Amino acid sequence: MADVWQTAMDHAVGAARRAGQVVREALQDDRKVMTKSSSVDLVTQTDQKVEQLIIQSVKEKFPTHRFIGEESVAAGESCVLTDAPTWIIDPIDGTTNFVHAFPFVAVSIGFSVNKQVEFGVVFSCLEDKMFTARRGKGAFCNGEPLQVSDQEDIKQSIIATEFGSSRDPDAVDRIFSSLRNVLCIPVHGVRGAGTAAINMCLVASGCVEAYYEIGIHVWDIAAGSLIVSEAGGVLMDVDGGPLDLMSRRIVAANSRTIAERIVREIDAFGPPRDDEP
Ligand code: IPD
Repeated sequence: MADVWQTAMDHAVGAARRAGQVVREALQDDRKVMTKSSSVDLVTQTDQKVEQLIIQSVKEKFPTHRFIGEESVAAGESCVLTDAPTWIIDPIDGTTNFVHAFPFVAVSIGFSVNKQVEFGVVFSCLEDKMFTARRGKGAFCNGEPLQVSDQEDIKQSIIATEFGSSRDPDAVDRIFSSLRNVLCIPVHGVRGAGTAAINMCLVASGCVEAYYEIGIHVWDIAAGSLIVSEAGGVLMDVDGGPLDLMSRRIVAANSRTIAERIVREIDAFGPPRDDEP
């Protein structure tokens, strides 16, 4: 049967590459920084410009499709995942990195139908790495197949996580408690690229065994989640249940063994859901 979403995926790859070029050029200019939910939740004109570029190009080709975009939601658009074909866009994943020229920044485009991610595209634009996955057809980086690490011993593993943008003292305490627990398993190390999408691509590439975070949003993880699962990894909620893209919580790992071991160490909490009215 013909792959009905392949044209959309090809379009996403082209859009992500063009967006990445805009992001790279903007790094040479002054970056005017604004804030959203708090003084550490940053946005720039480039985030907004890139999101509009992607949405416009998709609308011209697929006029009936829907969108969930980080900056459109920040501007008041709804963030509800329906069964309709939906593009889930983070124009710059790693905005804080971008502001500081810390060199890990990604354009992330996921595409869901019937609430299932059909393809994911993450362009790590400063590394020039195009990560792609199509459901049932594997995950790739610049066309080369990806495979998660086969390490099943967490004590021989590197784990990725982030501190996120909440500075609520209770949330920060829980994040540090989880971090301490994971570090003291002990694991070989804990890392964070400053972008959820790239952390997930590192899991898919076999460089780190797992990534977990509480506080991310659907646009940070939609594309990366498929890239991890198509590279042979597993996804779950931080309580060990199934991943819920709207819950703002994720464990993405090379194996169920490693994912469940991390779940045992996480001091879980539930930030307001992305689809909460
Ligand atoms: C953020 C990054 C960061 C993660 C935050 C995300 P943004 O996305 O992925 O690594 O810790 O939770 O919100 O704001 O740069 O698109």
